[in-house]
Amino acid sequence: MALFELEMLGGAIEKRYRRMRPEVESMPWGTLDLSDVPAEERVRARLAWTQAAYQEHRTGVGVTEALRLLMQAQAPLDLIALGARFPLDETVHVELCARMAMEAGGGTEILYDPYQMIIGATFPGPPLLQAAELMVRFFCVGEALSIPLLRGTWKAARHPLSKAVLGRIVKDEAAHGTFGYMFLDWAEAKLTRSDRKLLGQAADLAIDAVMAQWEDLKRRPKAEWREGNALAWMATEPYLELAARSMNENVLAPLRERDIPVSRLPSGV
Ligand SMILES: [Fe+2]
Ligand SMILES: [Fe+2]
Repeated sequence: MALFELEMLGGAIEKRYRRMRPEVESMPWGTLDLSDVPAEERVRARLAWTQAAYQEHRTGVGVTEALRLLMQAQAPLDLIALGARFPLDETVHVELCARMAMEAGGGTEILYDPYQMIIGATFPGPPLLQAAELMVRFFCVGEALSIPLLRGTWKAARHPLSKAVLGRIVKDEAAHGTFGYMFLDWAEAKLTRSDRKLLGQAADLAIDAVMAQWEDLKRRPKAEWREGNALAWMATEPYLELAARSMNENVLAPLRERDIPVSRLPSGV
């Protein structure tokens, strides 16, 4: 197991990185005053932002793996070029979330197995089919769902720093969330009926994994968010309602429109 830790080389290397994404340093770091926030809420924020940093780190691995397969499958050059930005985006998101955890009082401990961070392609077959599997699981389900959920959280955030961090992530995710469908629109003609069936099953698995996380959220103790609180955040109930709606509109409907026979039914929201 590895401890989730981040380091920077600093100096000239950091300067070059900062030039690539100058917006990070212009955010109002150091302005989160948590003196009126109860200790439990602070701990919850530290946990949430550290978890978010780890999830972004994991997503970075996922998008890089999908990108490798797209290249091997000789996907269109311009499509690959759009996706080539994503590993950098996710790296920036790792930094933003980790710094938010620090602002809230420090990161929390996360242990993970670096060999099992993502489930890579499982379909035997050519790179195109393997790329399609990852595009469906990581992008058509994962990233497509994250757009409306992040936007909702960004809207609910009150503090300028949380707003700036979430706003940046929302902007980047807008491109990530539509990428899977751009790929499918190109690949559609090359996919056989049995390929589509496999892709439907892959989507089902990814959807089940997301639903399990939502079930977990439902069982968590409710946080008492107060208006004006520096950590004001989206409460669990509206989040889950938005999540169910987004699953229907951003995942199930567009997959079916592209003849990917996903079998999970829309929930009645
Ligand atoms: Fe991200
Ligand atoms: Fe993303």
